[in-house]
Amino acid sequence: MFDLQGARVLIAGGSSGVGLATAELLVKCGAAVVLNGRDRVKLERVKEQLGAQASICAFDAANPEERTRGLAAIGAFDHLVVALSGGKGAGAFADVTQPDLRSGFEAKFWVHFSLAQESLAYLSQSGSITFVSAISARAANPGTAGLAAINSAIEGMVKPLAVELRPRRVNAVSPGVVDTPWWNWMTEDQKQAAFAKFAASTPAGRVGKPSDIAQSIVFLIGNSFMTGCVLECDGGLRLVGQSL
Ligand SMILES: NC(=O)c1ccc[n+]([C@@H]2O[C@H](COP(=O)([O-])OP(=O)(O)OC[C@H]3O[C@@H](n4cnc5c(N)ncnc54)[C@H](OP(=O)(O)O)[C@@H]3O)[C@@H](O)[C@H]2O)c1
Repeated sequence: MFDLQGARVLIAGGSSGVGLATAELLVKCGAAVVLNGRDRVKLERVKEQLGAQASICAFDAANPEERTRGLAAIGAFDHLVVALSGGKGAGAFADVTQPDLRSGFEAKFWVHFSLAQESLAYLSQSGSITFVSAISARAANPGTAGLAAINSAIEGMVKPLAVELRPRRVNAVSPGVVDTPWWNWMTEDQKQAAFAKFAASTPAGRVGKPSDIAQSIVFLIGNSFMTGCVLECDGGLRLVGQSL
């Protein structure tokens, strides 16, 4: 495990799923975490769970004024993790609507882009940015062309930013299917059926846990020789075709 004592890490999307698991692991590594999300009540519950090393800052990262005010209130930090979800943009290519896909870009790509850009004023020179994209960007799964486009746009920034922003490091983790509240738009039965289908076709034989992705994120934060890298953490899902 990495020793991250003294490091301050902002996790945008830190109140649930992958972001929350990352916060839990970072706290175990000794880091101080600042958690962002829109729902203050959810954030307060998480803060109570994580203890003194955690602080919270509730704002809608997709809202420019709230984002600017929120980052200014947080102040200096060493590492940024962007684990926000969008959700829109999935579906068969013939059916996916442009407004849906545009709103998917607004909620994910543009928020990742803007948070990273505006964080530069606060981000340590020895620090890092880790985006959480999605393996749809690197797979050939029917029904995911829209999601692939959004997440490819995020992953496409990683290499140029790693050079442009040096000595800061820039990486991404590209997760496969992970059991998080992201899937709560389905009924419990639908979700379990979808997970069983994904588990059966995924070479690792299961869907991911938030802690699987958190370990990859903390590895990229803690290993100061990692930059310009998109880490695939998907149980091998990218190697097989599996529609949504
Ligand atoms: N779960 C999967 O199968 C999967 C697969 C591939 C990629 N991913 C990616 O992994 C990342 C994490 O997803 P997850 O599964 O952990 O989702 P999740 O459990 O739904 O968590 C999303 C987090 O983002 C916050 N959030 C969403 N919009 C926000 C906004 N505009 N401003 C501030 N906070 C916002 C949510 O809190 P509030 O709602 O309170 O704002 C929550 O803390 C996402 O980028 C997702 O696309 C997930």
